[in-house]
Amino acid sequence: MRESVIKIENLSYKYEKGSLALKNINIDIKKGEFVGIIGQNGAGKSTLLKNITGLLRPTEGRILVNGRDTINVPVSDLALEVGFVLQNPDRQLFANTVEEEVAFGPKNVGLNEAQIKERVDYALDAVGLNDYRDAFPPALSKGDRAKVVIASVLAMGPQIIILDEPTSGQDYRGCYQIMDIAKEFNKRGHTLVVVTHHMALVAEYTERTIVMMNSEVLLDGSTREVFSHPDKLRMTHIKPPQITEVARSLQPKIPINQTILNVGEFGEKLIALKSEKGGNAVNAG
Ligand SMILES: Nc1ncnc2c1ncn2[C@@H]1O[C@H](COP(=O)(O)OP(=O)(O)OP(=O)(O)O)[C@@H](O)[C@H]1O
Ligand SMILES: [Mg+2]
Repeated sequence: MRESVIKIENLSYKYEKGSLALKNINIDIKKGEFVGIIGQNGAGKSTLLKNITGLLRPTEGRILVNGRDTINVPVSDLALEVGFVLQNPDRQLFANTVEEEVAFGPKNVGLNEAQIKERVDYALDAVGLNDYRDAFPPALSKGDRAKVVIASVLAMGPQIIILDEPTSGQDYRGCYQIMDIAKEFNKRGHTLVVVTHHMALVAEYTERTIVMMNSEVLLDGSTREVFSHPDKLRMTHIKPPQITEVARSLQPKIPINQTILNVGEFGEKLIALKSEKGGNAVNAG
């Protein structure tokens, strides 16, 4: 059994001026998981992430990060274990060059120059911005600005990486580039938690999906299992990816007996069916 890196126990959170934004949340995230969090606007996703990263403190319940109750850990210490890219990453930009931006964190924790250089090189390489070291961050494209913020988080070397809507407002290429960076870090052993409204990306990249609705967890399971409940998802205004719906709508004519998550899977299933039944399965009327 993999170890828990984020353990959320009976967490509730109430904003000073507002009603409960989180109600009795229980989530256990294991080391190395790639978790997607989805749910309608205002469901509580960002509030949850801010509680995990210590920017907000639980009204009730507790959160353990790597076994330590976050209430006892200063935000600056927590930032070494949990990297967080906020919903609006532009707010995290402040330096005059990309390099300065990415070097800020490592400098701030007292690393020496060689170590800082190593961290900056590693992070810029990971996001593909090596050639933009001297660029003025606000002048970059939206996709590249998001990558700068991601690089500054990666430069801190956190085991857990949390991204709040990194694909929001990005074009198709930007979305996939950002998700590919997340996937690459997951492959390197990092735990990834990504909030997004892009269902096709959740379906394609994550292994586990948590669905939030009205401050609570509605579903939490393997991504395939979660997208097998279109009626429940509709309650929180989520539509499964189009290809998932297409495959489901073709049943029972084309007997694909599992929830399809992406186009590649759909194609493979069709080919397998065709060869199984000598072509009749797919053509059957
Ligand atoms: N600073 C705040 N003060 C009072 N209420 C807030 C504050 N921030 C968020 N809320 C409320 O808390 C609830 C949860 O908001 P949150 O931002 O966590 O939702 P979300 O799931 O991230 O939504 P979105 O998909 O729009 O980003 C909402 O009802 C929101 O209006
Ligand atoms: Mg949000």
